Amino acid sequence: MLEIKKDFPILENRKISYLDSGATTQKPLKVINAIEEYYKKYNANPHRGAYSLSIEATEAYENTRTKIAEFINAQNREEIIFSKNATESLNLLAYSYGLDNLKKDDEIVISIMEHHSNLVSWQKVAKKTESKLKYMYINENYEIPDEEIENKITDKTKIVGITHVSNVLGTINNIEKIIKCAHKHGAVVIVDASQSIPHMKIDVQKLDADFLVFSGHKMLAPLGIGVLYGKKQLLNNMTPFLMGGDMIEYVYEQDTTFAPLPNKFEAGTQNVEGVIGLGAAIDYLQNLGYDKIHEIENEVLTYARQELSKLDYLTLYLTKNEKNHSGVISFNINGVHPHDVASILDSEGVCVRSGNHCAQPLMRSLGIDSTCRASFYIYNTKEDVDNLVKGLNKAYNMFKKYIG
Ligand code: ALA
Repeated sequence: MLEIKKDFPILENRKISYLDSGATTQKPLKVINAIEEYYKKYNANPHRGAYSLSIEATEAYENTRTKIAEFINAQNREEIIFSKNATESLNLLAYSYGLDNLKKDDEIVISIMEHHSNLVSWQKVAKKTESKLKYMYINENYEIPDEEIENKITDKTKIVGITHVSNVLGTINNIEKIIKCAHKHGAVVIVDASQSIPHMKIDVQKLDADFLVFSGHKMLAPLGIGVLYGKKQLLNNMTPFLMGGDMIEYVYEQDTTFAPLPNKFEAGTQNVEGVIGLGAAIDYLQNLGYDKIHEIENEVLTYARQELSKLDYLTLYLTKNEKNHSGVISFNINGVHPHDVASILDSEGVCVRSGNHCAQPLMRSLGIDSTCRASFYIYNTKEDVDNLVKGLNKAYNMFKKYIG
């Protein structure tokens, strides 16, 4: 494990226990070097120049698209669309697929644990199309029960939006069941894989996902690069979301025809350094292998669950079923504001996120405003967990006299 930490310069340079990978991961030297090499050796605007530098940049950009298609087992490379992040991919789907396909009294079904990006956009589209937004709720074990899936997804459902792993609870949702159920009723499914793809192998064909989105920066790649996967036939029938350069075929004074996939959805100069960085991040993850990733993470996460459960002043928002849990642990010191806890942890060099984690409806359903959240990745060790526990004990001891 120490070997892995060495691949991440920031973890060598700063004496921290970085437990906020759910927000963004640190970057390995291989990714940093790939970006530097791009700027030093072949920076140009892809698809726009007939000169060899631009052709080289275009090749690197397009080869990464092929790499991503293989990485998630998409049938066609044209099914991979580059975006800014998962949020932009989700907005694209809401505004393009949603507005085009929903009509009055149709239903959109999402879960109560969605990130605002897979929720607010649907509220807006539902209002505009007079369709209804319905929620699948969780049980006391922080999971969506099977009956909830079966009852909420009906013949009225046209779109199901579901996060694969909750960014607050770490619950791994049964997306296989959700996809089967949605397809039985003729609905399409959008999977938000932002919190799952860093930790587990995704096979879009095996899942039969209609759309799947993720952000590069949560899986070792730079900020500002995301992916939208969609089945070719669905993407072909969608109207573009952003208009501009490179997504057009012919432009007339009053009308325009659009470029074929994938360019149709990639308006404007693209984030080539992000794409190159994402390609290098995928190489890094594949080199390590998901089996190894799982082994490393499982050891640390199991230890964290075990050690945090010993702290009786802590509330954990966590499924009891370890098999359904990945990546993040949310908690509160009863009676202490999470921002105060996070500040004290910071004074001990422990980085956690505190707040509502862009999931206010989930927080409300749990009867709270906010939590602290520790999120783990391949470079974390049991020592990081020990530092977290030490910091929590410090916070509790500072505040316990004020807790009623
Ligand atoms: N969506 C990211 C998180 O959960 C930022 O922290």
